[in-house]
Amino acid sequence: MMAMVKYSAYLLTNPASPRSQLCTLPSIHNLQHTNQPSMSSLKPLHISSAHNFALPPELRRRVTACQAYEADRSRPLELNIELSDEEAGTETTQRLKIGLYFATWWALNVVFNIYNKKVLNAFPYPWLISTLSLAAGSLMMLISWATRVADVPKLNLEFWKALFPVAVAHTIGHVAATVSMSKVAVSFTHIIKSGEPAFSVLVSRFLLGEAFPVPVYLSLLPIIGGCALAAVTELNFNMIGFMGAMISNLAFVFRNIFSKKGMKGMSVSGMNYYACLSILSLLILTPFAIAVEGPKLWAAGWQTALSQIGPNFVWWVAAQSVFYHLYNQVSYMSLDQISPLTFSIGNTMKRISVIVSSILIFHTPIQPVNALGAAIAILGTFLYSQAKQ
Ligand code: 3PG
Repeated sequence: MMAMVKYSAYLLTNPASPRSQLCTLPSIHNLQHTNQPSMSSLKPLHISSAHNFALPPELRRRVTACQAYEADRSRPLELNIELSDEEAGTETTQRLKIGLYFATWWALNVVFNIYNKKVLNAFPYPWLISTLSLAAGSLMMLISWATRVADVPKLNLEFWKALFPVAVAHTIGHVAATVSMSKVAVSFTHIIKSGEPAFSVLVSRFLLGEAFPVPVYLSLLPIIGGCALAAVTELNFNMIGFMGAMISNLAFVFRNIFSKKGMKGMSVSGMNYYACLSILSLLILTPFAIAVEGPKLWAAGWQTALSQIGPNFVWWVAAQSVFYHLYNQVSYMSLDQISPLTFSIGNTMKRISVIVSSILIFHTPIQPVNALGAAIAILGTFLYSQAKQ
């Protein structure tokens, strides 16, 4: 029985490591010395087979496949290696674990979106709400580190420098999505956000000069067409809401690009990576939130919301902030366990759960043609995932 276990590239290429003795990669070392860029240990590897590795005969039987990948989401990723059951526990346990991550991620995301919208309906200050989400997460992680509930990461200046552009893009994407949700239905924001792969391909093609197989380009047609159909038939269309979701898509594409470029070779757990991203984003966002909205508007708006909703309003704000951090933390933790492909499929499924649940909870009016547009766009993201594979 096989199970997937994560190893850092360092661990595999460091001759002192016990793992390197188990699954030695002599070709990697050799090629590094001959300056062959495609096999640097600092670059993501894709090794489809362990066939050419000079393993001792007694180990050959036990090692079946080595696989590594580049993260589609802002994480420096390591090598994934499939090992035997003696080495890595059971596949069933691993599947259950991933299933649990996914279920938790989607559930937390649905709850976040519901409370976020409830808060924004009563208190339409998305810049403060975005700041509070990041502040809650930062505080939770600082407490977790101080109390040793979570391992304190060992980080240097290089890490923070590499994280900075990622955090700028994360901040813009987060605020833009929140602004969008303050203006339009949650379902509409997420329908437009399901178009993120189209942004990814277009930016990679036209700004970075990357080429993709034809099926990838073809899969963009239903994504773009579906989003366009959903947008033009949206009953409560609002240009700021639409543009917010589009800007969020663009910003998150840059977040991934900066992350891939800057964070390669750095090793930090998904949970700590997201914690650092939150802290840096909070520092970036706070002055802008004060400049755009400011304490005067916040104080007046807060009083109005409290008088309309009552003390529950404070709980709603707390819930949206805490759940924002939790769903993101779980999604980054799940990326430690799964490939970017599985992640992006999971992300699309997440959007379906959010779209359906928010339509039910907020009684969002939708026309059949509008739902058709959403369905086509979502189908397109599935096709894109397959084509990208
Ligand atoms: C945010 O506020 O950051 C966005 O709602 C995030 O959206 P996503 O995690 O669903 O892409």
